Amino acid sequence: MALIWRRGMSVGNETIDHDHRYLVCYLNTVELALQKPENEEVLLTSLSQLYNYAYEHFIREESIQKKIKYPNIKEHRKEHQQLLEELLDLKNKIKNEYDNEHISKNYDEIVKFLRHWLIDHVLNTDMAMKKYLEKYPKNFPNQ
Ligand SMILES: [Fe+2]
Ligand SMILES: [Fe+2]
Repeated sequence: MALIWRRGMSVGNETIDHDHRYLVCYLNTVELALQKPENEEVLLTSLSQLYNYAYEHFIREESIQKKIKYPNIKEHRKEHQQLLEELLDLKNKIKNEYDNEHISKNYDEIVKFLRHWLIDHVLNTDMAMKKYLEKYPKNFPNQ
């Protein structure tokens, strides 16, 4: 079943919430692509799109953190970098499997990993920003 962004996932900032909604959409696209894994190009493209959007989102989020002088910015950035590495590893692993014509068919595991990969970060690490972000207007920094 597709993942849906809920109000409870809001970190109190429109820019970041908007990005998180899109990340959920990109994640759902990957999950859809995994249902037809014989279409290598669709799956690898959807993974690239998720990676690229996550990359851009992390830059936006870190820029907001800098502006609000968020205290855990260093640790948070480290987690972003690790998330990108993990996603790149997964993409390379799948690409290698296609190249060697040895598809592991571990799609449930991949879906589990991706959901954990995104949702855990948004609900825990990003949520820690909420009490700092709430001191600013919801549309900060686009006032
Ligand atoms: Fe985020
Ligand atoms: Fe984050």
